[in-house]
Amino acid sequence: MKIDDVKKIGILGGGVMGGGIGQVMAVAGFDVVIRDLTDEIIESTRDSIFESKWGMKRSVEVGKLPFDACLEAMQRISFTTDVRGLADCDVVIEAVPEKLDLKQKVFAELDEIVKPEAIFASNTSGFVIEEIAKDVLESRKQQFAGMHFFNPVPVMKTCEVIYTPQTSQETVDTLKAVAEKARKTVPIVKDMPGTYGFIVNRIFAAARREADKLVEDGIASKEDIDAAMIGGRNWPVGFYGQRGGIGRQW
Ligand SMILES: NC(=O)c1ccc[n+]([C@@H]2O[C@H](COP(=O)([O-])OP(=O)(O)OC[C@H]3O[C@@H](n4cnc5c(N)ncnc54)[C@H](O)[C@@H]3O)[C@@H](O)[C@H]2O)c1
Repeated sequence: MKIDDVKKIGILGGGVMGGGIGQVMAVAGFDVVIRDLTDEIIESTRDSIFESKWGMKRSVEVGKLPFDACLEAMQRISFTTDVRGLADCDVVIEAVPEKLDLKQKVFAELDEIVKPEAIFASNTSGFVIEEIAKDVLESRKQQFAGMHFFNPVPVMKTCEVIYTPQTSQETVDTLKAVAEKARKTVPIVKDMPGTYGFIVNRIFAAARREADKLVEDGIASKEDIDAAMIGGRNWPVGFYGQRGGIGRQW
């Protein structure tokens, strides 16, 4: 599957991440179908894509998205509670809750339903991609990768693409191009058994562990650590909720 063949993107799970990914993909010009479990959840996904703080309505209001483009993007998004609604998608991005056995189960189910040439990607925050792909057919494994977006998806600019030893170069190239069409920068990351997290979450977790140790050892307060990193390293936010100088919180 090459980028020019990608017309329709399926999203499994229309929560915080799935709704955001669906939104940016529709704005990028792809047809999008979002599958979640109930009509109520789907209603709330539809609302948040349009009305939430990072939704399309706001993009129109601040002049980032022309009104016509917003209408066209909304029309490109459909919703379903039936997993068979994803059968003809070219790329399926999974964004169900962060439980390894659930992800393995939903991909095994998708494998039987979705056309064989389609690419599968997981938006896991950090599970080993090869383990998520455990139960899909060997023939699909070259079309299986990670695609890790950040929250809120319409705002955050990075999407890590993670490849396993089985992932083909064509799959990596296509997912990179899909994310770039959605205006993301795309670091490429090697899947690594025995780890959790790719680039961003591993580095952040390591820094956070060190910050907690500074607090624990009485070396600095949480407020001063945040202020130090914001002022000294230009971090936009701290670890503990601080956004500005010492003592300022909002
Ligand atoms: N929230 C974040 O900040 C963030 C950031 C990056 C990555 N992630 C990852 O994205 C994934 C989704 O996280 P989220 O925050 O969007 O979760 P969420 O709970 O907001 O959404 C998950 C959605 O999946 C649905 N779901 C559950 N089982 C399903 C199934 N079998 N088929 C279809 N839909 C199903 C749920 O009803 C729910 O709407 C997780 O793997 C998470 O680790 C989250």
